[in-house]
Amino acid sequence: MSASLEQRRNLVTAIPGPRSRELMTRKKSAVAQGVGTTMPVFAVEAGGGVVKDVDGNSFIDLGSGIAVTTVGNSAPRVVDAVREQVEAFTHTCFMITPYEGYVAVAEALNRLTPGDHDKRSALFNSGAEAVENAVKIARAHTKKQAVVAFDHAYHGRTNLTMAMTAKSMPYKSGFGPFSPEVYRAPLSYPYRDEKNVDGAAAARRAITYIEKQVGAANLAAVVIEPIQGEGGFIVPAEGFLPAIAEWCTANNVVFIADEVQSGFARTGEMFACEHDGVVPDLIVTAKGIAGGLPLSAVTGRAEMMDAAHVSGLGGTYGGNPIACAAALATIETIEADGLVERARQIERLMLDRLHRLQADDDRLGDVRGRGAMIAVEIVKSGTDEPDPLLTNAIAAASHLAGVIVLTCGTYGNVLRFLPPLAISDELLNEGLDVVAAAFKDNA
Ligand SMILES: Cc1ncc(COP(=O)(O)O)c(C=O)c1O
Repeated sequence: MSASLEQRRNLVTAIPGPRSRELMTRKKSAVAQGVGTTMPVFAVEAGGGVVKDVDGNSFIDLGSGIAVTTVGNSAPRVVDAVREQVEAFTHTCFMITPYEGYVAVAEALNRLTPGDHDKRSALFNSGAEAVENAVKIARAHTKKQAVVAFDHAYHGRTNLTMAMTAKSMPYKSGFGPFSPEVYRAPLSYPYRDEKNVDGAAAARRAITYIEKQVGAANLAAVVIEPIQGEGGFIVPAEGFLPAIAEWCTANNVVFIADEVQSGFARTGEMFACEHDGVVPDLIVTAKGIAGGLPLSAVTGRAEMMDAAHVSGLGGTYGGNPIACAAALATIETIEADGLVERARQIERLMLDRLHRLQADDDRLGDVRGRGAMIAVEIVKSGTDEPDPLLTNAIAAASHLAGVIVLTCGTYGNVLRFLPPLAISDELLNEGLDVVAAAFKDNA
């Protein structure tokens, strides 16, 4: 982030401006349409709480490139570390000529993730790739094959992770057949569950399903997002996660927490499973791990991680030295700048504002989330019927007014906020003012 990047929302053209429109025309004739874009503008610079586009418009960033730039875009320590590493060497392949940065990231992950047992880590490139590897490790360790994922889950777009992902459009439709031996269990969804289904009851429901329809004897792993991302920022009811984790331990099933979206200070703990006091066997991380560079990891119990034979895990780029340098600088930034606490402050500010908005407008059916991972589930007034059209209208109006917000949810009716932790309260409040005005304008 350059020092000259002003931390303010400033629109100098209609959105999109002429240069963005020109680039969108080029995109349409050069880029496969399957790769969609949320915003109609092209970025040139970003940092703090702002993204600037090619026409000179500055947007308030409430998306962090989908929970990636948690420490801020081009965060100073990340920029310095990357520059230094690029000048030293860009790639040797860790599997050919290893380097210290990879080992240091593994040490940091082993230290930071929940539990003080002996751990090992392995590094990859994307969240989906790390989820796939966590499943490989669980299968090697248990010598079993089945995998349970949950309703509304999102684990990625590769073949195995498409099978594990719940939502058909746009993630899976037309792309099958999918990987076998993947089963889907019911989640705890406090806003939509029957009122008598608390965390313990939801866990019993899921466990009964797993025991009767999969069988612990066949099950290698249960994979769960401690707070769901694309599925709608669903925070399971208290007691759900610990009960599932305990059942896994008792049944020789590997409990895998997919913290790709919720990890690295995002939720006001270093990892979201800490809110529930859960210690996963394996934890999958990506996104916020490296300040915008592509890196992902699986970290977990040494005896499980080491179940895969020598050279059974890896990949050409996994744990690339530049991404590792960025990750070490990202972790240093989170720790030195108190960003876990900053996420908690952001939670207080956002929940307070959104609850006040909800008090006057029952279309905000549910306000939920933790830290800087907050969402509003939007419904038709007087009902709990999802309203994806209104959700899209609010998001589009916010975009045109200079605020980047994202949507998600199985029913497409969740507005989600993932601000960088480097954003100021002033920008955050202004961003929420814009969203509040969009609700009013769409009354
Ligand atoms: C919980 C979760 N798992 C896995 C993934 C896939 O990560 P990637 O897009 O880096 O493959 C995502 C991406 O949004 C995610 O939110």
